[in-house]
Amino acid sequence: MKLKLNLFLALPALFLLFNLQANAFSTASQDSTVDNCIACHQDNDNMPDNYNPEDIHYKVGLSCFNCHGGNPKTEDEDAAMDPDKGFLGAPSKEEIPAFCGRCHSDFAFMQQYRSEVETDQESQYYTSQHGTLLKKGDTKVAVCSNCHTAHSIFSPNDPRSSVYPANLPETCNACHGDAEYMKDYSIPTNQYKLYKTSVHGIDLYEKHDMSAPVCNDCHGNHGARPPELNSIPRICGSCHVKNLNYFSSSPMGKEMEEEEIHTCETCHGYHDIQKASDDFIGTGEKSFCIECHDEGDEGYITAAFIKSRIDTLKLKYSTASDDMNNVIIKGMDDIDISFKLKEARQKLIETRTAIHSFDTSQVNTIASQGIKLSNEAIGMAQKEMDEYYNRRTGFIYSSIALLILGLALYLKIRTKNGKDKKA
Ligand code: HEC
Ligand code: HEC
Ligand code: HEC
Ligand code: HEC
Ligand code: HEC
Ligand code: HEC
Ligand code: HEC
Ligand code: HEC
Ligand code: HEC
Repeated sequence: MKLKLNLFLALPALFLLFNLQANAFSTASQDSTVDNCIACHQDNDNMPDNYNPEDIHYKVGLSCFNCHGGNPKTEDEDAAMDPDKGFLGAPSKEEIPAFCGRCHSDFAFMQQYRSEVETDQESQYYTSQHGTLLKKGDTKVAVCSNCHTAHSIFSPNDPRSSVYPANLPETCNACHGDAEYMKDYSIPTNQYKLYKTSVHGIDLYEKHDMSAPVCNDCHGNHGARPPELNSIPRICGSCHVKNLNYFSSSPMGKEMEEEEIHTCETCHGYHDIQKASDDFIGTGEKSFCIECHDEGDEGYITAAFIKSRIDTLKLKYSTASDDMNNVIIKGMDDIDISFKLKEARQKLIETRTAIHSFDTSQVNTIASQGIKLSNEAIGMAQKEMDEYYNRRTGFIYSSIALLILGLALYLKIRTKNGKDKKA
């Protein structure tokens, strides 16, 4: 009886097991859990080249048919990819923004996946130079899949993403650095080459500083255009806040912004921005100022004045540093001096930023504070050294005194011993 029951239960179980195994081995199937698009394409070795099963769309449960349409539940090629049943095929380049936008412009749809998602990429895209030209039938421009790929799409903050900051410049450069591809246009093809050796590129690639700007920080993500000239200070100023504040605080700041005089890139460039140097100001060979200002005009005089204040501050600061080193060598107390020097150094840094006021009085205020602090440090170091020498002369005097005392004692003992012997 017991055996009979077991057999009765075992049969369907065996059947089920066999069935599961069969399913596991045949990739294409009518079974609703099998994605026949992937199965058949894998079997036929015609998966898209850049297919990555980790793509964010597969991760959230979307698959081939969600983008391309068609019926994943049938093994039959024609039925699966029937245009009459909604199969879209591979989109042409002009179709791609709407192809991706079908979901990404649909707020209600996207909300189901993530509440804070943006749904303006497609509309933003059509404000860009890329989108504007695509509308006119130029298919050389970038569309969604040129920047994001079609089958290896990741979140922008995933290091595998083609738009992850460290990867993005190469993504843009695939077209913008290709002189042959870009030959119909009149723009340079050296942006990436210049960027790589700029202070920003070095910061990104050599110091791995993710706060360095990459192409889209200055050009926007989807609205990529060259920035309007008078918006450049605000783009640079989004990171270099103090420089922008000085720039705008100067009595002529507003006027300069409006007239596009002294905007950041007039002096620093944009793709090839180099590490700053004190020689960029003044009237020397490397000075930015002498490119436009001639001897005697106000700009020239301002440049010379600012440079002279920076030079004085640097000289005082380095004298104070040397003095402090002597204090350290002699083993005297350097703690308060080093605090003063730190403050002075901060003023030197601030002075370099304050030059962006192009205003002698603003620069002078800060530089003078730095000079004063350096002088104070020099004074404090002098005091420590005086004390050191005082202690040293004190030591010599007391040594001599001790020596005299010892000698006197010795003589006294000797004469006493002599007297004792005579007695
Ligand atoms: C039984 C096999 C089979 C199934 C199932 C299948 N495909 Fe295909 N698919 C093919 C083959 C073979 C080609 C290439 C031949 C051709 O272009 O017709 C192809 C081509 C494509 C193309 C490129 C078409 C073009 O215009 O260049 C896309 C996109 C595609 N399939 C998507 C899908 C999607 C999405 C599904 C599921 C809904 C699917 N396929 C299901 C076999 C299959
Ligand atoms: C996020 C949307 C999306 C998903 C998901 C997607 N595709 Fe595509 N696919 C595209 C776009 C866009 C293109 C055209 C641009 C291109 O070729 O890079 C394309 C092109 C293709 C092509 C023709 C060109 C080529 O690269 O071979 C095939 C075949 C294809 N897809 C198959 C598939 C299959 C199979 C799947 C599922 C594994 C899939 N796609 C999933 C968006 C998608
Ligand atoms: C010129 C290159 C480029 C093109 C073209 C482009 N993108 Fe992007 N996209 C980016 C960059 C760069 C980011 C990353 C932004 C960041 O770092 O936050 C991004 C981010 C995204 C995001 C993440 C959310 C967001 O808005 O930041 C989505 C979704 C997206 N893009 C979809 C699209 C769609 C859809 C299209 C086509 C209509 C498209 N992109 C066209 C470069 C591009
Ligand atoms: C069938 C709807 C659909 C289509 C078509 C589609 N996507 Fe998506 N996409 C989504 C969903 C849903 C997510 C996941 C949202 C999330 O969790 O961030 C997503 C995520 C993304 C992300 C990551 C966003 C982020 O901030 O993490 C990018 C980038 C992206 N898609 C680009 C594209 C591009 C490019 C295309 C066209 C080639 C495309 N998508 C087509 C639905 C779609
Ligand atoms: C598929 C190739 C391709 C990719 C990838 C690409 N672009 Fe473009 N881009 C072009 C073409 C073509 C033009 C049109 C050139 C023109 O208008 O003179 C253009 C125009 C531009 C312009 C306007 C230039 C001007 O002065 O008119 C900017 C800015 C720009 N792209 C930035 C970017 C950035 C940033 C990226 C990366 C996030 C990028 N592009 C990725 C092809 C591409
Ligand atoms: C620090 C900001 C910044 C970064 C980073 C940056 N650009 Fe630019 N880019 C600009 C400015 C500013 C202009 C326009 C100046 C003008 O119109 O006078 C410009 C102009 C351009 C142009 C128009 C043609 C030209 O060379 O003048 C293209 C194309 C371009 N950039 C692409 C890129 C690409 C690709 C990257 C990344 C490798 C990039 N940019 C990185 C600020 C930047
Ligand atoms: C996304 C933020 C960001 C943007 C936008 C940006 N920068 Fe920078 N910049 C940085 C970072 C980070 C550094 C490196 C910090 C460092 O090493 O001093 C840097 C360094 C510099 C330096 C060298 C500083 C030094 O100490 O020598 C100059 C000059 C500079 N940027 C100018 C500009 C100009 C001009 C623009 C606009 C065309 C701009 N930056 C846009 C973040 C930014
Ligand atoms: C008229 C020329 C000129 C203009 C315009 C200009 N700068 Fe400068 N900038 C300089 C000079 C000169 C230095 C070097 C100062 C030094 O090291 O003594 C410098 C240094 C810098 C530094 C490094 C020193 C620091 O402050 O950390 C940054 C960052 C910087 N500039 C950003 C900007 C930004 C952002 C703008 C636009 C708002 C801008 N600059 C506009 C001439 C200019
Ligand atoms: C690209 C050209 C250019 C560069 C480089 C340049 N300037 Fe100017 N600057 C001008 C123009 C144009 C004016 C307004 C006309 C005038 O008064 O000369 C001006 C005005 C000034 C003024 C106000 C003069 C007045 O009459 O109100 C000062 C101060 C000044 N610049 C200082 C500097 C300093 C310091 C530098 C270097 C860090 C510098 N400029 C670099 C073009 C430039």
